[in-house]
Amino acid sequence: MSENKVTMEQVMSLCKRRGFIFQGSEIYGGLANTWDYGPLGVELKNNVKKTWWKKFVTDREDMVGLDSSILMNPKVWEASGHLKNFSDPLIDCKKCKSRFRADKLIEEKISVSYPEFIDAIMCVLKTDMFKSRYSGPTGWVEVQKVVDKYKGSEMYSKMTHTILGYSLKPYINLINSQTKYKFDLPENGDIQCPNCGASGVDVWTEPKAFNLMFKTQQGVIEGEGTEIYLRPETAQGIFVNFKNVVNTTRKKIPFGIAQIGKAFRNEITPGNFTFRTREFEQMEIEYFVEPGQEKEYFEKWKTSLKEFFLQIGIKEEKLKFRDHTKDELSHYSSGTTDVEYEFPWGFGELTGLAIRTDYDLKQHSQYSGENMEYIDPYDNTKKFVPFVIEPSFGLDRTVLTILLDAYHEEILEDGTTRIVLKLDKKIAPVQVAILPLKKNEERIVTKAREILNTLRTNLSVQYDDSGSIGKLYRRQDEIGTPYCLTVDFDTIEKDDCVTIRDRDTMKQERVKVSDLVDFFKEKI
Ligand code: GAP
Repeated sequence: MSENKVTMEQVMSLCKRRGFIFQGSEIYGGLANTWDYGPLGVELKNNVKKTWWKKFVTDREDMVGLDSSILMNPKVWEASGHLKNFSDPLIDCKKCKSRFRADKLIEEKISVSYPEFIDAIMCVLKTDMFKSRYSGPTGWVEVQKVVDKYKGSEMYSKMTHTILGYSLKPYINLINSQTKYKFDLPENGDIQCPNCGASGVDVWTEPKAFNLMFKTQQGVIEGEGTEIYLRPETAQGIFVNFKNVVNTTRKKIPFGIAQIGKAFRNEITPGNFTFRTREFEQMEIEYFVEPGQEKEYFEKWKTSLKEFFLQIGIKEEKLKFRDHTKDELSHYSSGTTDVEYEFPWGFGELTGLAIRTDYDLKQHSQYSGENMEYIDPYDNTKKFVPFVIEPSFGLDRTVLTILLDAYHEEILEDGTTRIVLKLDKKIAPVQVAILPLKKNEERIVTKAREILNTLRTNLSVQYDDSGSIGKLYRRQDEIGTPYCLTVDFDTIEKDDCVTIRDRDTMKQERVKVSDLVDFFKEKI
């Protein structure tokens, strides 16, 4: 048997064919980048949520849950900094007037993240070689001027503009020869407009910040309502409820609040299926600690994050941590690391872990007038504004990662191809498929339904008699069902045993009906 490299197209095709994920509003021609979870997708998604909630909330004494509103007082976003800072650098092609995200245009050329590219450039700029060799009026000097002038500014907007105007090749040659970074050299280093193909110094406008929050109106009369926003992260719902939770639970620090819910961002370049969409679900935790202890807890959370991804079956060798560079940090963070997964297009962010300092609580204190200090419930003299560690998971991105990671195409000995989703047994939408060998044979059907009802108490089971056994196995392999259980004539007439087929090895064994509950208890 051999395995292929997984492409997004293969996974998208399977998702549609088998009912994991459909295009949103499909019968009306769709709505760009919206996706609907089908019967299997919603089960998988729910299993991920349940596993996450159990690991991070139910099984821990230092965690509680919350479910806050999507719509919040607009002052929240003023206080949190989202109104001012939550933006992407947009540029226009002066020739055809198309609009793009500057950092993404560069990333598409170099297949590394833009912040990493900037980091590499910064390393070159610091070398003595750079100063002595590139002192003439070249793009590099432009870059250095810009960096000196704009260092610390949000998106390196000017620098990005300079980079866009020149070929990437000399940049990458220098990076590769002068620093630890080794990037692939693109065949054509010019950043061309994806729409009209234009390139060069005069083509691009300077990047402009575009706020990513969705605006809407609250109130029944158009034009007269209050302008409000759909939340771009679930986190703020946690911060504004901090006092409520402390007062009602009397939790002692360190403790955390978790929430799962929808978030909305008017992304300029959504894409890669459910990887980046405008509506998505987050699973977030704000973990409150005493100032000074944030680094210690940050390390502990790093370990927990990794444990979670291994628990849901993601291959360890496809995961890595990537620390944010100083220039890349969000406005509220003093340290962030991303858990990255090796997607078909390269490593990309799966989950973020940030030290949010005491920024949010202090901001809300200032804007709302409420004192956000934590007062120890058992010692009133102990007061402080806690520091926050924030593990922030994208649920849709996690589900996509699970699907990509589990997808396998195997060439069998007879030359045919088997598509199989090697999902973790605990999160598979169907754990055991009950297949009656003859769908019209009453004794077989009765026995199969009896088994179905027994196993249903503890497992996610599916009864399927919609095709030949070969077809049923193929379907169950594709949806990731770990075990298929077949009831046949021997079950009824001879041994009261059923055939159990293992998805991964395709090996079959006979198991007594009376042993089934224990059998699956051990296996799953
Ligand atoms: N509260 C912090 C926060 O929201 P983030 O890095 O912007 O941090 C956290 O988002 C996670 O949410 C990301 O790691 C990703 O998994 C997910 N996410 C963010 N934007 C997304 C989008 N447009 N589509 C799908 N998932 C997204």
